[in-house]
Amino acid sequence: MKLSSFIHFASFGVKTIIFRKKEPILGTIIVSDKCNLKCKHCSVNNITAIVHPYEQIKNEMLQLYNMGVRILFFCGGETFMWRDGNRTIRDLVVEAKMMGFLIVNVVTNGTFELDLPEADLILLSLDGDKERHNAIRGDTYDTIMNNINNATSDNICFYMAINQINKNAIEHVCMKARDMKNVKAVSFNFHTPYPDTKELALSKEEKAECCDVIRRMMKEGAPVFNLKSAFPYLINNNFPTPCHQCVVMENGKLSTCGRCIDVPGLCEECGYFFVAEYTLLFGGHPLIILEMLMTYLKYI
Ligand SMILES: C[S@@+](CC[C@H](N)C(=O)[O-])C[C@H]1O[C@@H](n2cnc3c(N)ncnc32)[C@H](O)[C@@H]1O
Ligand code: SF4
Ligand code: SF4
Repeated sequence: MKLSSFIHFASFGVKTIIFRKKEPILGTIIVSDKCNLKCKHCSVNNITAIVHPYEQIKNEMLQLYNMGVRILFFCGGETFMWRDGNRTIRDLVVEAKMMGFLIVNVVTNGTFELDLPEADLILLSLDGDKERHNAIRGDTYDTIMNNINNATSDNICFYMAINQINKNAIEHVCMKARDMKNVKAVSFNFHTPYPDTKELALSKEEKAECCDVIRRMMKEGAPVFNLKSAFPYLINNNFPTPCHQCVVMENGKLSTCGRCIDVPGLCEECGYFFVAEYTLLFGGHPLIILEMLMTYLKYI
């Protein structure tokens, strides 16, 4: 991370903690909910299948930038399916960088060719070993591995949503993150149980076991892009929600924290690690502040 970016984030953090401010720093734009997959745990694919046009997304970027957002995620649907004429997701990343966003990340299922060196991180969903990943995401594991090996940059970070199907495959994903040449790290979430995927949720005891495995893997040198000090809060679901420093924009609609904010009762069962990490950080939790500094400086 550039020193100027670090100073910007540090000053935002200090002001937010001291004055209990609620301004956002992290924004996500949903470029389309269209997707080539239909993963078992996902409730947000192909609801409208509308691909939002370039000019609309550019205006959404500007709106977020003017609100103070400096960390931008592009998400979907499948981001690599996004097109407007000759423009691709790469043009959106380049535009965002030119606009002044300090960190620009893209979330993808990894089934398309990976040529996106301009992104700070490509968060690529890997949901276990071949058997368990494919049980969730269809027959895609080999294609993804091939795309990672042929990627034009080493800015990939695995993104694993841990649920009833893949809870025993954490070690595999950690080892792949450590050993694959284009992969920097892995970041985890627990399954967030939307009404149609409740059966995939983990119990408190299962979450605790998963955190033990992640801790052990970290000790053994696996590059995990999460904060250990947030684990107890994630296990007990007793972190503050929603995260006021995060916003999501989908087709002109701005939501605080996630588009899931409209699902009644879901925040009490939230499994997204970033929510626990950010709300604890901006709540002034000293251990989280220290760990966040060390982790972000290491991976971004
Ligand atoms: C909705 S997908 C969109 C980007 C891309 N299609 C992908 O699969 O990475 C973004 C991330 O959300 C995760 N996800 C989907 N439903 C979830 C849920 N109910 N709980 C936790 N993570 C979930 C996916 O596994 C994926 O890593
Ligand atoms: S690839 Fe992503 S958006 Fe598509 S179904 Fe799977 S999790 Fe949902
Ligand atoms: S806290 Fe609520 S709105 Fe935020 S990600 Fe979790 S479920 Fe969604």
